[in-house]
Amino acid sequence: MSEPNDWTRIDYQPAIPDHPPVPVLQHVSPGSTVLDIGCNKGSDAIFLAGHGFRVLGIDINGAAIQVARLRAQAITAPGSAEFRVADIREEPVADRFDVVLLIRVLTCFAESSEWDALLRRTIQLLRPRGYIYVHDFLMSPDIDVCRIRYEAGAALGWRSGNFQVNDARGNRLFIAHHHSPPEVDAIRAGFESLTWRSHESLSMSGNPCRMFEFLGQKRTCRNS
Ligand SMILES: C[S@@+](CC[C@H](N)C(=O)[O-])C[C@H]1O[C@@H](n2cnc3c(N)ncnc32)[C@H](O)[C@@H]1O
Repeated sequence: MSEPNDWTRIDYQPAIPDHPPVPVLQHVSPGSTVLDIGCNKGSDAIFLAGHGFRVLGIDINGAAIQVARLRAQAITAPGSAEFRVADIREEPVADRFDVVLLIRVLTCFAESSEWDALLRRTIQLLRPRGYIYVHDFLMSPDIDVCRIRYEAGAALGWRSGNFQVNDARGNRLFIAHHHSPPEVDAIRAGFESLTWRSHESLSMSGNPCRMFEFLGQKRTCRNS
């Protein structure tokens, strides 16, 4: 077990600043409601608001939400993008959404129990036949810099695929997780696959890594 991440005070400045959820535009009608969990400074939420979606962005980091609100005020139509400082693990979100985005967020839920809980929460927050969009990191032991980090995490008894991310001074920022094929299968279970791809990318610090992008539609189930 490692110490929990404290995202309330991390200024996230990744090498690739945003990953606009383009497949959502191809499969979901404008006007649909979207929840962007872990929206940070709002780039992806604002991207969808600019294409006619009604977006709520939630993030535990107050400073990031402040930036998101200012950016939205300057760019989007009034009411199309709203932002809330909240911990998704505790926030009583009453609404159900047509789309829920998880962009580089499951990677921050390094403990399996929290990761499972976030995935379950995401599914609960979707309307019947709603869409999940996940863009996150794949476990890539063939990439040296990744393998060395996984091995260091494993030596500390951490979940397979967990590793430490440091700031420029070498101080620990947070523990991240890269996803194994069975974990990706767990994310995709219960959804019809509309978009699936894996691709080369860069980590927050600019190291080579691999990511996956998934858009799925919730399968009809008798109890949904
Ligand atoms: C790696 S960043 C990704 C941000 C953005 N989605 C992107 O891809 O650029 C993860 C985000 O999730 C937020 N986060 C982490 N834990 C959270 C929680 N429990 N509730 C809400 N947001 C959380 C962090 O503050 C951070 O903004």
